[in-house]
Amino acid sequence: MESVAELLGTEYPVIMGAMGTISNVELVAAVSESGALGLIASVGMDSGGLRKAIAEVKELTSRPFGVNLVARNPLSSAMVEVMADEGITVATTSAGSPAALTPLLKDAGIKVFHVVPSPALAVKAAQAGVDGIVAEGGESGGIQAPQAISTLTLVPHVVEAVDVPVIAAGGIHDGRGYAAAFAMGASGVQIGTRLMLTEECRIHPDIKRALLEAQPGDTIVLPMGMGSVRVLANDLARSIADMPPEERVSRATEAWMRAPAAFQDGDVGSGLVIAGECSGAIDEILPAGEVIRRMVEEGARILGSL
Ligand SMILES: Cc1cc2nc3c(=O)[nH]c(=O)nc-3n(C[C@H](O)[C@H](O)[C@H](O)COP(=O)(O)O)c2cc1C
Repeated sequence: MESVAELLGTEYPVIMGAMGTISNVELVAAVSESGALGLIASVGMDSGGLRKAIAEVKELTSRPFGVNLVARNPLSSAMVEVMADEGITVATTSAGSPAALTPLLKDAGIKVFHVVPSPALAVKAAQAGVDGIVAEGGESGGIQAPQAISTLTLVPHVVEAVDVPVIAAGGIHDGRGYAAAFAMGASGVQIGTRLMLTEECRIHPDIKRALLEAQPGDTIVLPMGMGSVRVLANDLARSIADMPPEERVSRATEAWMRAPAAFQDGDVGSGLVIAGECSGAIDEILPAGEVIRRMVEEGARILGSL
């Protein structure tokens, strides 16, 4: 079986998690330059927007990078054509059935990694013909499955359930998490929240400060119309959590839709700050390349000493 790094075309078996509208091109390129896989998040884009983002990343790096496609988005099929035209060789797919895009991507010669929250969905993805699975535990930032499973429980089960490589995601922010992922049988990691606290990530400095100040336990899961979302437990999030159930869902959905604006202008009074549990454990803004290098080196050292 090809290793994850071989499948990705990278030095390290590490993928940057898709992060909605905040995966700016400088961050994508910096991750790829470090030897991991930078990833453009296509949510909110059309084919033209994706082509432009790909061109911008190519200006900054000649190393491979991938694209995340929203499986249930009707615009995603046209984006596969753009990816093939532009020579993109890796996609992650999430939020929808793995059967929706896998055949198209495979026909275009693009490797596919589907993000799943459960062993049952991992089996479906493997049956759909994916090259690998991203097993994302409930610690992660962003949208959560109704009965989210923690990374520590999810990953070994997914590894047992499928014959394709498994990439662990959710709560991994340093070499200890990296080593733990491999100890559980994963062949790579995907990280999101840690990359928000990097020099290249363009979110507002006030948001970075709030994330740096967060302590373990300072995130909360809010129910929305389409699943739940893990966010920083700031005043806005706590006030929504205290609302009666009917109001809570509509207010959370509304505030979630304003998250991209809040990330840009720092207005956390109206928009939610999407972030994973590990935000409470990160206390330093670093260049993205340094985050990756430290994680991989520390991880290898730990694995060697076990
Ligand atoms: C701000 C933010 C936005 C995210 N947006 C997306 C997205 O658009 N699509 C997706 O598949 N995952 C999304 N995720 C999940 C990440 O891709 C990744 O799997 C997750 O962050 C890993 O867990 P961690 O945050 O604990 O590292 C998002 C995560 C964060 C923190």
